[in-house]
Amino acid sequence: MKWKRTHTCGDLTSRQVGTEAVLMGWVEKRRDHGGLIFIDLRDRYGITQIRIDPSSAAYEEAKKLRSEYVVGFKGRVERRPDSMENKNLRTGEIELVAAEIDLMSTAQTPPIQISGKVSSSEDLRLKYRYLDLRNPQMQHNLIVRHQAAQIVRNYFSEKNFVEIETPYLMKSTPEGARDFLVPSRIWKGRFFALPQSPQTYKQLLMMSGFDRYFQIVRCFRDEDLRADRQPEFTQIDVEMSFVDEEDIFVVVESLVQRIFKQILDIDLSLPLPRLSYSDAIARYGCDKPDLRFGAEIHSFSDWAKKVEFQVFRDNLERGGVIAGICAKQCGGYSRKQIDQLTEQAKNLGAKGLVAIKIKENDWDSGLNKYFTPAQRSALIQEMNAQEGDLLLLVADTEEVTLHVLGELRLLLAKQEKWIDGNRFQFTWVVDFPLFEYSQEEERYVARHHPFTSPKAEDVSRLQEHPDKVRARAYDLVLNGSEIAGGSIRISDQKLQSDMFQALGISESEARDKFGFLLDALAFGTPPHGGIAFGFDRLVMLLTGTTSIREVIAFPKTASAMSLMDGAPSQVSEKQLLELGIKRIV
Ligand code: AMO
Repeated sequence: MKWKRTHTCGDLTSRQVGTEAVLMGWVEKRRDHGGLIFIDLRDRYGITQIRIDPSSAAYEEAKKLRSEYVVGFKGRVERRPDSMENKNLRTGEIELVAAEIDLMSTAQTPPIQISGKVSSSEDLRLKYRYLDLRNPQMQHNLIVRHQAAQIVRNYFSEKNFVEIETPYLMKSTPEGARDFLVPSRIWKGRFFALPQSPQTYKQLLMMSGFDRYFQIVRCFRDEDLRADRQPEFTQIDVEMSFVDEEDIFVVVESLVQRIFKQILDIDLSLPLPRLSYSDAIARYGCDKPDLRFGAEIHSFSDWAKKVEFQVFRDNLERGGVIAGICAKQCGGYSRKQIDQLTEQAKNLGAKGLVAIKIKENDWDSGLNKYFTPAQRSALIQEMNAQEGDLLLLVADTEEVTLHVLGELRLLLAKQEKWIDGNRFQFTWVVDFPLFEYSQEEERYVARHHPFTSPKAEDVSRLQEHPDKVRARAYDLVLNGSEIAGGSIRISDQKLQSDMFQALGISESEARDKFGFLLDALAFGTPPHGGIAFGFDRLVMLLTGTTSIREVIAFPKTASAMSLMDGAPSQVSEKQLLELGIKRIV
């Protein structure tokens, strides 16, 4: 490197005209114009135009420059001729007229598109992630992530929270997702697990008297991946003592308010709305509803009791339900479009889909004969349907009906562009059931985790009616994405043991897996609770991206691989031997 840089490629404006400057960066573009060479020089701060005149000492070398070469220029800042100004660039009024050049690195032709809109295939982008991260959009995403992390740290620090690191090598206590295991070399045959979250540690910290803890922390879960899931992801993890749900909501809501104000200049009005789990399921068919548009689910089981339509009657007799949504202005759908929707409903598990077009306050459907005019009109009124709308009804078990309608609602919103991309619609979802039945394990499992407290009034039902017990758990949902989840914890040893028992975990198994926590509960435990944000998901929504891979510097693919370095990879026999591990595949 011949010189020190004096400015970045985003700094120079007309104020520096006439001064000397040294810029360094990557060649975004080279243009040759009537003997002059123009270089768009890029770094993470911006782009500056460099002009190299034929008389310049830099001229011959500048002719060799290609995209992505790393180069420095020393020269004088000059105002561009009026007609050459670029109003879209911060540096658009000036150019650096180069006197000297320092070519620091050449570059092969990049295998992916770097400038402009991200457009190469995701696999190639992940293979050459270091090049992909040169794209200004990706740099913006990571800078927003950094800013959000700083806001979080300042916020909690101001509010007397202490950031404490917890171990990454811990005891395997699978309950929820599958653990990633790390074999011990010193203790052959034994394994550490990577934490799915610092849940037990943060509770122990409450018992230690750190009444306000937070940590921006990596978590590891060996689960099936989706656009909003990674095997390693980051949480903003929080725990507080001597609190109830309301205290946690207040802390979380003003954090979210600050992040949205400082990053997007959006004013959120507090308190954020709340929705019970049962309402969320009944009205939106899922526990993380997108509230940016309507098309809520309506139940018609009572109405259907009186109609002649056999499909509905049979379903009711089997204990099923009938419900539907109103797709506004979709009454013009073609036969093919309705067949497609029906196919999608079937793929989601429904036996079929009843589609009714609304015309002049009546149905325009082959099914009219099964329903009296009064019955047809009752449905139209209940759904608040207008001419040109499309009613979609499903008759199935309650679970299938609500799930299918909830998914169709989302699908139509996307297809019909019902969603205003600039809106941020939060809701708390509260009053979750404590357990859910796992068909796979043939037992009740904790919906949140086994340390979540039941509601006081439901404790007596733990053993007899686990399905009726509600949890002191809450999720924060934003635009249909679960961005945080937490609960008030069990702070009593006996109740914690009862909880393990209700989960079908024997006393000896509970001792073996969670003995340390049960012991700690007996040494003076404050009431406590907390929450964890999915930090990647939050940043994904802040940056308007649709996959958390866009806000993680080096993510894994959807099939849990790192395409850049090829991890997970084979290891040598020697390494395995040292760990006392024998390969069987
Ligand atoms: P939970 O399991 O709900 O709670 O996780 C908290 C939040 O983390 C995010 N999240 C993920 N993000 C990316 N990839 C994943 N694989 C992934 N899994 C979860 C979600 C979720 O809301 N210890 C408890 C919190 C508590 O009770 O305080 C916990 O981990 O946004």
